[in-house]
Formats: sequence, structure tokens, C-alpha cells
Amino acid sequence: MKSYNIALIPGDGTGPEVLAEGVKVLDAACAKHGVKLNYTSFDFGGERYKRTGEILPDSAIEEFKKFDSMFLGAIGHPDVKPGILEVGILLKTRFALDQYINLRPVKLYPNVETPLKDKGPEHIDFVVVRENTGGIYTGIGGVTQKGTPLEVATQVMQYSYPVVARCVKYAYELTRKRNSKKKMLTLVHKCNVLTHAGDLWVRVHKEMGDKLYPEIKQDYNHVDACTMWFVKQPEYYDVIVTENLFGDIITDLAAIIQGGLGIAAGGNINPEGVSMFEPMGGSAPKYTGMNIINPLATICAGGMMMDTLGEPAIAKAVDQAVHDALASGKIKSLSAGKMGMGTREVGDFIAKLVS
Ligand code: IPM
Ligand code: MN
Repeated sequence: MKSYNIALIPGDGTGPEVLAEGVKVLDAACAKHGVKLNYTSFDFGGERYKRTGEILPDSAIEEFKKFDSMFLGAIGHPDVKPGILEVGILLKTRFALDQYINLRPVKLYPNVETPLKDKGPEHIDFVVVRENTGGIYTGIGGVTQKGTPLEVATQVMQYSYPVVARCVKYAYELTRKRNSKKKMLTLVHKCNVLTHAGDLWVRVHKEMGDKLYPEIKQDYNHVDACTMWFVKQPEYYDVIVTENLFGDIITDLAAIIQGGLGIAAGGNINPEGVSMFEPMGGSAPKYTGMNIINPLATICAGGMMMDTLGEPAIAKAVDQAVHDALASGKIKSLSAGKMGMGTREVGDFIAKLVS
């Protein structure tokens, strides 16, 4: 039987609860398709940090490299200063494993409430490809005269040609593969002001598109205008490609128009290496252990993981099951405590649909 080795990081707060449901659904879907997942769990997160002072040792990165993929619940602990765990675990893994794509499907499922007036599932169905290891996140820059009235701080949006090119290539390939009539790749940047870094992205997008993807429509939006169009006309988009920080910002806006953190899933992808999949929501500590947190985003992230592992049929089955579960109207809301069923019951429901 075909099998894959998966590293699990349940993490903090409600992370373990949602991840358990993700695993439940994947196991059901995989069993039906003759695939087996072998899991190894790692206890990185706030509790371990508090107990041992250890965030994510380099030896863990070496361990992760041996897996086919990684599946994460949530990171963030109320007693740990914000940023320490996010940077020390999430960003460290992204960089160390060169997970250079952050993939964020933005899809409004049936019966899911969007804050956008008069928009339905037929209007909200696009994908954001966010560059995930470059730009301002590299931390290049510095500070002088710190603490004085003349303090100077810089943080540089750095990009090399190959780092832009590999990201844009991934986005073009995805646009080609995606089953959409639009076949359009929108580059989102701010090239009217960022005349160096923006221009590099504009040229790569055009050169690569002209040469290798002539059937794909090339499109460009400034990032500020893009936020406006997300609200006014989300049906315009097919695939978006953008640099790291802009992508971070627009994907939060995108998450809310698809129904919020209960449903927003993402992948930190190294197409040639080990990727990591996660729900976009945080650890929601106040809901821990209450069986009321929504596991759908984690379940969707699990589906994305199967796609990246080369199992598109399983990915499709998971997506269809989430779609059907929501279409049934039995899940009353995506908000914690208002779903009309518990975390485990939502997991059972979807698992039954994929079996
Ligand atoms: C995300 C998060 C991270 C980011 C944080 C937690 C470092 O906001 O995955 O979008 O900025 O990339
Ligand atoms: Mn973010």
C-alpha cells in the first residue's frame, strides 16, 4: 500500500483538537483510496517552551527533513510573549525547509456567511500564491543610534531574480492546472512606488508568461487597489501571485471574505521538499478543551497536503466532503460554539462523507 510519513505538530490551545479532526478525515479519505499515512507527533509549542526553554532546535529541522510532509494545528500561548513562538517555530521552519510558497485558496463554500453584500460562492473562488521566504521577512536591515532621538531603523524588501522566478513559475503552473475559465495570473505589487523590487517582479511575470505560458492572461494590480477589488469584485480573480508582506496582508482580507478563520487553510510549500500545512486561525486558548472550535480549516489544510503529496483524488474528495457538509445546512455557523455540533462531530460528519 502506498504510504506517506507525516510529522504532526499539534501545538498550543485548540491546535491539538483541530488537528485530531484533520487526521481523522485524512485517515478516512486515504483508506478509501488505498493510501496509508504514518504519523509522528512533535510537542513543539508554548508548553514545551515554558517547561524547557526550547522553541525549535536545529535537530528538529533535521528530523522534519525526513518526512513527506508536515501538518500543524496552531502555535501561540497566552503566557508567551507574542512573536516568540510564531517566529521561532513557524518562520524558522519556513526558512529552514525553504518553503518558498504560501498557498492560500480563497473559496466561499455554500451556506457560509461572507461580509460582502450580494456575493455568493459563484463570486469568491480564487487562489493567492504568496512568496514565503523572501522580501522584508528576511530581516535584512539594521538599527543605529537606538534609543536616541536620532534612531534610524531599516528593514529591506530584498528579492533576487531566482527567488522571484521560482515563485512566479509555481503560480503560472497552478494557473495552467486550475480548472477555471479565466486562466489569468494577476501579479500584485506596488511597482509605481517600489520601482526596483516591483520592477523585478513585473519583468519576471511578463518574460516568463510571454515565453512559457502564452495561453495565460497576464494581469497586474497595485496592492492597494487589489484590497479594494477583493471587496467590490472578487469574481475578477483567478490566481494572484505576490511578494511576502503584501501576501500576508491581502490573505487576511481574503480569509474574511471566504467566511473567516474557521475555514481558511494554507500551505507552506517547498515543491521539491518538505511542506507544512495549517489552518490560518490561531490557538484560540479560551476555547481549549471545550469541543467547540471549528476544525474545517484544518481539514481543508489536510486536503491541500494530499494534493501536494501527489494525491489529487484524495484532495478533491476532502474538498467535496467539506462542500457537501456545508451545503447540507447541518453546520449552522463557522464560529466556535455556534456550529450546532461539536468539534469532534464536525470531524465525524466529514469523515463519513469521505468514506
Ligand atoms: C501568517 C502569519 C505569520 C506571517 C506570522 C505568525 C509570522 O501571519 O502565516 O500569515 O506573518 O507570515
Ligand atoms: Mn498573516
